Amino acid sequence: MLAARAGRIATSPTMKVAAEAIQLKAQGIDVIDFGAGEPDFPTPRHICDAAKAAIDANFTKYTTNSGSEELKRAVVARYRDDYGVEYSTSEVIITAGGKQSLFNAVMVLFGPGDEVITHVPGWPTLVEQIKLAEATPVVVRTHAEDGFRLKAETILAAITPSTRGIIINSPGNPTGALISEEDLAAVADAAARRDIWVLMDLCYEKLIYDPVPHNLVGVLSSRLRDRSVLCGSASKAYAMTGWRCGWTLAPKEVVAASNALQSHSTSNVCSITQRAVQAGLQGPQDCVTEMLDEYRRRRDQVCEWLAAEPRIRVVKPAGAFYLFPDVSEILSPDNVRTTAELAQGLLNQARVAVTPGEAFDAPGFFRLSYATSMADLKRGTTRILEFVRALDGRSAVARA
Ligand SMILES: Cc1ncc(COP(=O)(O)O)c(C=O)c1O
Repeated sequence: MLAARAGRIATSPTMKVAAEAIQLKAQGIDVIDFGAGEPDFPTPRHICDAAKAAIDANFTKYTTNSGSEELKRAVVARYRDDYGVEYSTSEVIITAGGKQSLFNAVMVLFGPGDEVITHVPGWPTLVEQIKLAEATPVVVRTHAEDGFRLKAETILAAITPSTRGIIINSPGNPTGALISEEDLAAVADAAARRDIWVLMDLCYEKLIYDPVPHNLVGVLSSRLRDRSVLCGSASKAYAMTGWRCGWTLAPKEVVAASNALQSHSTSNVCSITQRAVQAGLQGPQDCVTEMLDEYRRRRDQVCEWLAAEPRIRVVKPAGAFYLFPDVSEILSPDNVRTTAELAQGLLNQARVAVTPGEAFDAPGFFRLSYATSMADLKRGTTRILEFVRALDGRSAVARA
């Protein structure tokens, strides 16, 4: 018999599709994988070299639980350079990815009876973490019609006397949408009046395509410094998903509590990873720009290819590396009924892996990750278009 807690959570549905695609590929089947939520680029050379040097220098033991002082200083310096904010190293903890940064914060800040607002279509982990903390997720919805923009008024309308936290992901997964500085300022001001915490999931902070003002860190730190928690990650910016490193910048008491929690669960992040991430944060940032430029080319190209099928309606995303088209017009009661069935049909028959919108609380959409080569994007979108066009002539294709 499992504990009640285990019954409250579901495993990540975004990982299910990826796992099936991996299994098929292992059988030698030519699957084009648009499911993965990670960069296809190798980790930049100078970052790998720093890891090798760490091993050679025998930097292979426990570090301080909250991370090495050098890495914390590198995080502080990067946020100072990028956003003009000042943090001390006692306001920083190094975590096993952005996921642990968010997990620590949610666990130490929220509990039974607390309402925590977040937004969908969204990354499912945010809601699951709120549930793990035994708090109540309050989910607000953004819409394709206005580019999935997260408006302050939508969040403010969900605030009740029980609201203790607001979690915002910008650029967002799966939509790539940004919250504007003005909207975040309005949220921050309302939060300040009511002693509500604002947690910012900055996992895709380096992946913004157009030069829009997007200093969310600056907005929060000037208006809500003692109630905001910034959760960052090396995963997507430096193509380091497997190294497992993120960080939290927050008031000292949140960092201290996160440190205590982490000290009884995972302890410090791998010492070698810490040296590697330090090199990433302190080194030249051209690698980030080069990857961003390539993602932009792919985004524009795939949007153009998919535009050939009017029933696949794409909003060009402002950030991250996903397209999240509305494909509801393809669905019908006597054919493919849901986007879960559509994704299954695409995988089984067209051999293309996409993530169904159901995984992000948004049936009628699917997520296509363009963090893969242009050649595969071409082959994969061609397969998707052929599959969709052939659907009209077939019935019950996904269930066959
Ligand atoms: C929105 C969002 N936040 C946070 C994360 C956490 O990533 P990591 O733990 O690798 O830093 C992810 C990963 O996919 C994500 O999509």
